[in-house]
Amino acid sequence: MTSEPARLPVDATTTTAWGSLTELSKNLQPDLRGWFATDPARAGRLSHQAVDLHVDLSKNLVTDEVLASLLALADEVRLAERRDAMFAGEHINVTEDRAVLHTALRRPSDEPLTVDGQDITADVQDELAKVYTFAEKVRSGEWTGVTGEPVRTIVNIGIGGSDLGPVMAYEALEPFVQDGLEVRFVSNIDPTDVAQKTADLDPTTTLFIVASKTFGTLETLTNARLARDWMWRSLVAVGAIEDSEEGRADAVAKHFVAVSTALDKVEAFGIDPENAFGFWDWVGGRYSVDSAIGTSLAVAIGPDAFAELLAGFHAMDEHFRTTPFEQNVPALMGLLNVWYVNFRDAHTHAVLPYAQQLHRFPAYLQQLTMESNGKSVRWDGTPVTSDTGEVFWGEPGTNGQHAFYQLIHQGTRLVPADFIAVANPAYPLTDAVGDGGAVAAGADVHGLFLANFFAQTKALAFGKTAEEVRAEGVAEELVSAKVFSGNRPTTSILAPALTPSVLGQLIALYEHVTFVQGVVWGIDSFDQWGVELGKKLALEIAPAVAGDEDALRTQDPSTAALIAKYRELRA
Ligand code: F6P
Repeated sequence: MTSEPARLPVDATTTTAWGSLTELSKNLQPDLRGWFATDPARAGRLSHQAVDLHVDLSKNLVTDEVLASLLALADEVRLAERRDAMFAGEHINVTEDRAVLHTALRRPSDEPLTVDGQDITADVQDELAKVYTFAEKVRSGEWTGVTGEPVRTIVNIGIGGSDLGPVMAYEALEPFVQDGLEVRFVSNIDPTDVAQKTADLDPTTTLFIVASKTFGTLETLTNARLARDWMWRSLVAVGAIEDSEEGRADAVAKHFVAVSTALDKVEAFGIDPENAFGFWDWVGGRYSVDSAIGTSLAVAIGPDAFAELLAGFHAMDEHFRTTPFEQNVPALMGLLNVWYVNFRDAHTHAVLPYAQQLHRFPAYLQQLTMESNGKSVRWDGTPVTSDTGEVFWGEPGTNGQHAFYQLIHQGTRLVPADFIAVANPAYPLTDAVGDGGAVAAGADVHGLFLANFFAQTKALAFGKTAEEVRAEGVAEELVSAKVFSGNRPTTSILAPALTPSVLGQLIALYEHVTFVQGVVWGIDSFDQWGVELGKKLALEIAPAVAGDEDALRTQDPSTAALIAKYRELRA
């Protein structure tokens, strides 16, 4: 494969399609009520199947003409070409001169892929085999700590992509976790995090996984040192090791493993490279849950379920790679997001899972989407020519309904929202008694839960007119407060159940949605230079915080005053 930088970005705003979309938007009077009334086939026409996901786009603020222009835009910005370049391993991460191959992590073992002269499918399979062997050892009790006890708690230490994916997937797949095993996640450099997560742990049955792509992240390395120190002290306290160099080395060998692309740094930390799992610079941190970064998850749910997760990812990759854009769900969802950001003035996008197990999915998507597409220059270094990126946010339904939905229903801002649900819950329960009214005795509680999903998407789309409010006998002075404008766009995603495969499909879906938007905006969705300045300044400021007066004097007046205040308040 070539390592040539990919061709220059097309300026989407100069395309014919962009002009058409601008005109269409100017003249568009969203009317979901009318559109559905005159076109009963709309729901069917705008619903698509992507592997196990049923995706209904019909409650979006688009006409067939708008959709046609969005698809034309995809052609004009050469979306298919760029997608194929990504799958082929071209260096589309231009600013870091890297291939972007998270899709190779879930490629079937019998499909070789040569990139930069290397068969990376074979590399992926070798590393996966190592992770699976380790996972089986821990699950079976063959892997033991210094006292010969099996592992009961795994603590994953990592941040950003080395935390958000694993913790989100662990929570989502909790019903698949082996009995007797628990995974905890330490990410924040706030010492509270590691202190709380280790407070009640038995060191003899605890295994730390230090997960860091670079193995240079301040938070993770600091937490790893704190954890190592805790482990040494705790094992000495219970008489499990001698307070000696050999004792400490034994503790690290049996209670610490690492995941990284920088195995030399892992060794320098004291972890035997034999106990380290690698991956490659062509996997972005936020795209890495399906690499060895998912080791904690692989241990928890086991190799079979992890393989099923990977298969789900791959199935969605294939949908994205092979389906014509007219029915290609990631392409359509990405283009709809462009429509809202660039033509309908939306600034944010809500993700609302009606599945408690997906409660960390919005947080996971925040890194995936905002670290990828929060950019102001294009991949050739020139300024972007339109707005890019949205603020992704959300909470599980129904909790969000009682918190922020008010703004989505009646606020002045347009908030496109994705509603996600599964048909079969992991914990089906019935309400034996009911409430004597709408909730019948023996009611399926999940049915009640999803009635809320359907009610919210319906209310957002169709609202409630003043006439309807008046017809309920509402006093005239309260009518306007009780009107719902409707025409609040939503996408509904339904899956049969939250299996490992479905989770893989969902993650891959949003990876590709993010990619599609990045292509339209001409940006490199795979670098993250915007996080560097703060990291550097934190290291520069640390001495001032620690009491170095010279360092304090070099700060700007506001920062210097804040540091001084902190030091005054700090006991
Ligand atoms: O600071 C942002 C970031 O660079 C993310 O992109 C990354 O996922 C995270 O830090 C953690 O990085 P690492 O896995 O190298 O510790």
